[in-house]
Amino acid sequence: MRLSRYFLPVLKETPAEAQIASHRLMLRAGMIRQASAGIYSWLPLGLKVLRRLEQIVHEEQQRAGHHPMLMPTIQSADLWQESGRYNAYGKELLRIEDRHGRDMLYGPTNEELITDIFRREVTSYKQLPLTLYHIQWKFRDEIRPRFGVMRGREFLMKDGYNFDVSKEDALHAYNRHLVSYLRTYERMGLQAIPMRADGGPIGGDYTHEFLVLAETGESEVFYDSAVTDLRLGDRAIDFDDRAQCQAIMEEFTTPYARTDETHDDAIFAEVPEERRRKARGIEVGQIFYFGTKYSDPLKALVQTAEGEQVPVHMGSHGIGVSRLVGALIEANHDENGIIWPEGVAPFGAAIVNLKQGDTDCDWVCEELYAGLNAAGVEALYDDREERAGAKFATMDLIGCPWRLTVGPRGLKEGNVELTSRRTGESEAMSPAAAIDRLRGIFAGL
Ligand SMILES: Nc1ncnc2c1ncn2[C@@H]1O[C@H](COP(=O)(O)OP(=O)(O)O)[C@@H](O)[C@H]1O
Ligand SMILES: [Mg+2]
Repeated sequence: MRLSRYFLPVLKETPAEAQIASHRLMLRAGMIRQASAGIYSWLPLGLKVLRRLEQIVHEEQQRAGHHPMLMPTIQSADLWQESGRYNAYGKELLRIEDRHGRDMLYGPTNEELITDIFRREVTSYKQLPLTLYHIQWKFRDEIRPRFGVMRGREFLMKDGYNFDVSKEDALHAYNRHLVSYLRTYERMGLQAIPMRADGGPIGGDYTHEFLVLAETGESEVFYDSAVTDLRLGDRAIDFDDRAQCQAIMEEFTTPYARTDETHDDAIFAEVPEERRRKARGIEVGQIFYFGTKYSDPLKALVQTAEGEQVPVHMGSHGIGVSRLVGALIEANHDENGIIWPEGVAPFGAAIVNLKQGDTDCDWVCEELYAGLNAAGVEALYDDREERAGAKFATMDLIGCPWRLTVGPRGLKEGNVELTSRRTGESEAMSPAAAIDRLRGIFAGL
């Protein structure tokens, strides 16, 4: 992308309404604009990050054997009346009446709709196990939307639902989700710690929330510092291997880690004092096993191998895709702007031409631009007639992880400058070497 042709409305001033860094930076970097309270338009740069996160979520879900689908945003109230949640959900549920006077709602979640699809189509244990998911906009009429996309009213969520013939099978689905979520967040360059949580309106005893530690997080959390040393890394995972998924679940959930809703002082006191931590975190996902809570009232029955009709065992699993954009920025920024981890960057590299109109500089920039694109690294080329300081400030603000600076002085030696946004360190090298270096960094992300 050439910056002269892009739509990137950056702001110099700090927007007064934004209280936390991610909200400020998303507005300043021209990623989002507020449409109304808790509802945002995603501008081109913001959308690129959102789509990148969606792509990672899709890849990791499908790696775990889960099937993508798409359910609508607007649902009929009938199913919610059947489950009993139409009244129980309260004011967060946006109720809508259509022209025929039928009660509709903008879905805050999809347990009812997916259970209805399931009960119409699946009748036998032979069609199980099954996990379906989608990435769709949700609406919850939050009493206090705030912090930009962190707590919106309209937000993008991946929600998935597993169907199993027994509790034992459903608990494997729970573990499988826990492992696939760990992989998902690690690929995004984030550490999200699974913490024992509360069931809330979805219900169920088995539930973990995934929290990114951040001072601006809305949740109070208590944990054993040993949990922050755990990494999945690139170990091979077989998502059908029950013992392996169970072992990873135990590895990551045995150290004490709980949100304030489930925190227990007496158990926490057993953690060695020097490892006890109290902090704040951003909830970026949650998994549940809730058994037959929806399949009972909605009569989603399946036949077992023994010929018996039983309600199907279910769980649901959510990732806050739009919130993650904010969480990533909270975890990766400095006073100059955003610092995207390579795996989620909207543009992997920035090309800054220090002397636009100079034949050599223009030529080398074009060569880098074409070479990077051919190497699979998307570049943003600042080809505007601007002073160097302003060009650097824009690239620092929007957070491209690598910057290539092209100027007459370096070119005399045949060099351009490669600068890391994270460390600020620069290295002079030939354009071809720079392309090779970046190809290596982004390979396989
Ligand atoms: N108002 C919101 N704005 C942005 N993301 C949200 C919002 N509410 C929930 N999410 C995201 O969706 C994920 C799954 O939702 P869920 O666990 O059902 O939400 P909650 O815990 O708020 O009831 C959460 O972990 C969170 O990351
Ligand atoms: Mg939750």
